[in-house]
This record gives sequence, C-alpha cells and structure tokens, in this order.
Amino acid sequence: MSRSVSTELSACAEKLMRGRRATRSFRPAEVPEATMRAVFALAGSAPSNSNAQPWQVEVVSGAALERLATALQAAHAERRISADFPYSEGMYSPVHRERRAAFGGELYGALGIAPGDDEARTAYDAESLRFYGAPHAAFLFVTGDGGARLAADVGAYMQTLLLAMAAYGVDSCPQGLLSFYADVVRAELGVTEGKLLVGVSFGYADEAAPVNRVTTPRAALDATTAFHR
Ligand SMILES: Cc1cc2nc3c(=O)[nH]c(=O)nc-3n(C[C@H](O)[C@H](O)[C@H](O)COP(=O)(O)O)c2cc1C
Repeated sequence: MSRSVSTELSACAEKLMRGRRATRSFRPAEVPEATMRAVFALAGSAPSNSNAQPWQVEVVSGAALERLATALQAAHAERRISADFPYSEGMYSPVHRERRAAFGGELYGALGIAPGDDEARTAYDAESLRFYGAPHAAFLFVTGDGGARLAADVGAYMQTLLLAMAAYGVDSCPQGLLSFYADVVRAELGVTEGKLLVGVSFGYADEAAPVNRVTTPRAALDATTAFHR
C-alpha cells in the first residue's frame, strides 16, 4: 500500500478523533446556547440510510435535568429497568470480554474501587445517573421501526455529535446506562415516539479528576480490519 499523505485536514482529523475521549467528571459551567446550536446542527450532517435521518434528539439542562436525575436514580434503586434495546452480558464475544476487563480495570482503578467490590460499583452506577456532574444531557431516540439499520444510523449520529462537540471544545460521555430507564426519560420529557438508544452527558471536563485520565487503547489495525484486492 502506498504511504499515506498527510494534509492539513487529515492532521485536524487525527487530532479531533484521537483527542475525543469519554469524560466522567464535569465542571458545572454550562455550554453557551450558540455553541450548543452549532454542535447539534453539525451533528445533523451524519449519514443515514437513504438520508432518512431517523433520530430524534432531546437536549436537557437546568431544572429539567435535575428532575430527570432524581427520577432515574429512583428507578435504579427500585430496579425499574425499561430498555428499548435489549442488553445482556451474553452479547459479548471472548475478545470483547478481554477488552472490557482491561477497560474496567483502568476505570475502577482510577476511581479507587477494588476488583470485586460490587457494592461500590453499583453505587458508582447510581451516581453516574446524575450525568457525572454534567450540566447537559442529550437523549438519542431511534424513530421509524427502531430496527438495527435505523439504530446504526443513530449510532453514526452519535459519533458525529461527539466529534462536533470535541471540535467546539465540549467534553462528553455517551452513557448506555441512561437508556436502561427509557420509560423514565420518556415520561419526564413527554416523548411519545421512538426507542431510546443512548444518552450523552456533556459540558466541560474537570481536568483535575483522575477518572478523566483513564486511557483506552485500541486493538491493532490488523485485528479488526482486512484489506482485500
Ligand atoms: C454506546 C455507548 C455506550 C456507552 N455507555 C457508557 C456508560 O454507560 N457509562 C460510561 O461511563 N461510559 C460509557 N461509554 C463510554 C465507553 O466506555 C468508552 O467510549 C470506551 O471505553 C472508549 O473510551 P473513549 O471513549 O474514552 O475513547 C459508552 C460508549 C458507547 C459508544
């Protein structure tokens, strides 16, 4: 294969994509409305099947976010799970499990939670339903039949959103956990259509928090990608 040619744009892309990371401790400072509108407008440039754009996005801040956090924590305490997209540990392959274990070791190590301390992990999950202290959260719903192909489109939207945020200096954390309480999100926000895929907490990172220094390496290119000709 020929050597890659670096351009100004590719250098920006490297910086943007490799610089984005999940943030799990935020400062309370809000994102200005103009930045918010720019970021969500840019996220809408994501590709989708036949340009159907099957996403419905609910952005929550202020008192509404506070009310939602309280309702989510109540549902969590009462184990009132309502996931529109089923989740099970069984979905992971052995290699996925290895990568998850390595990530879990890093994350819980940074949090000072010992391996096997399930009580502390559950408490951390409950706390994370307050959006890691972020002043905003976006909920991404899949409209239409909510099947795998349209959900994949909303996955593409999610990554476009995360990169748009990174480009505007906004930090984020996609949180699948938030989608486990879809009925609560729907009831609190008055949403009547779509399936909840994921929530994204966002704002500005607390740079001093050790949890924000967790590193997540990726598999080698050849482990995931084959080139045919
Ligand atoms: C669909 C999805 C769901 C996720 N759910 C959670 C979650 O519930 N809680 C959390 O702290 N991080 C969650 N993450 C963040 C991942 O742990 C993170 O993206 C991964 O470890 C790679 O790290 P990086 O984003 O810092 O590169 C989720 C990421 C994605 C894409």
